[in-house]
Amino acid sequence: MHVFSDIKSIQEHLAKLHSDFKIGFVPTMGALHQGHLSLINQAQKANDIVVVSIFVNPTQFDNLADLDNYPRTLDTDLELLNKVNCDIVFTPTVSEMYQPNEQKIHFDFDGIEYEMEGKYRVGHFDGVGTIVKKLFEIIKPCNAYFGEKDFQQLQIVKKLVETLKLPIKIVPCAIYREEDGLAMSSRNMRLNKNQRQAAPLIYKTLTSAKEKFGTISVDKLKQWVDTQFANHPFLTLEYFEIASEQSLKPYEVCQENEPFRAFIAVYADDIRLIDNISLGN
Ligand code: PAJ
Repeated sequence: MHVFSDIKSIQEHLAKLHSDFKIGFVPTMGALHQGHLSLINQAQKANDIVVVSIFVNPTQFDNLADLDNYPRTLDTDLELLNKVNCDIVFTPTVSEMYQPNEQKIHFDFDGIEYEMEGKYRVGHFDGVGTIVKKLFEIIKPCNAYFGEKDFQQLQIVKKLVETLKLPIKIVPCAIYREEDGLAMSSRNMRLNKNQRQAAPLIYKTLTSAKEKFGTISVDKLKQWVDTQFANHPFLTLEYFEIASEQSLKPYEVCQENEPFRAFIAVYADDIRLIDNISLGN
């Protein structure tokens, strides 16, 4: 496994590869778990070489404390990647990826960037777009893998590739869950025992919402979700929304025959957890 932390060295290494080589790319912020590994596994099946990046991207955090508290476990990450036979790891520093005082780019993603995550984490998707664009330009992958866990991010990245006309296929990957249904996340390692025990309520609420969808009004469904978290000792609901998979616009302003998903964001103290579920079959 080759590990590079500067742009020049990884580009020199990649330039030596056969031009027909298919590069699969999995961008991450580290603190790796089985969810990340499932993306890598999918990439290994369809490419000649797999590059994983580990970079906690400051421009996508709307909150300095969240950036400071984000788990950083580089040594164990590298051990894990070595174990699963990852070919190349890119671990740049902030100064390698950004000029001093460099501002994130503002992207127009047809309004997707202002819904849900974009509404509650202002500027978040500009930060994601800025770093993903930079990483794509450095790695020049053939295929890039993104989890449905961050469904809105996945749609944003598809839009980015379309807008910039990049020759990269964006491959969506299913959400990987703990046995009790909690979606795997790097942030889960910050949960204390009580919070961890309570957290499966998030997915349980989503699966029940899926059953109820179509049998009661969306308004009533939202009220029911509110009651699941009302006065909860460890979890606070930030939002629950039913939205179009394509436009991410709320159900209320969409055509009824579009594919919909339910999206949820919940706080356990200062730890923010998100999840979603398809409302199709
Ligand atoms: P990070 O949160 O580390 O996630 C990296 C990739 O793993 C994302 O595509 C994410 O959707 C996917 N992922 C995380 N948990 C998952 C799970 N339980 N099941 C399936 N996939 C999962 O997302 C980011 O980093 C950053 O925003 C990044 C794209 C790297 C840009 O900085």
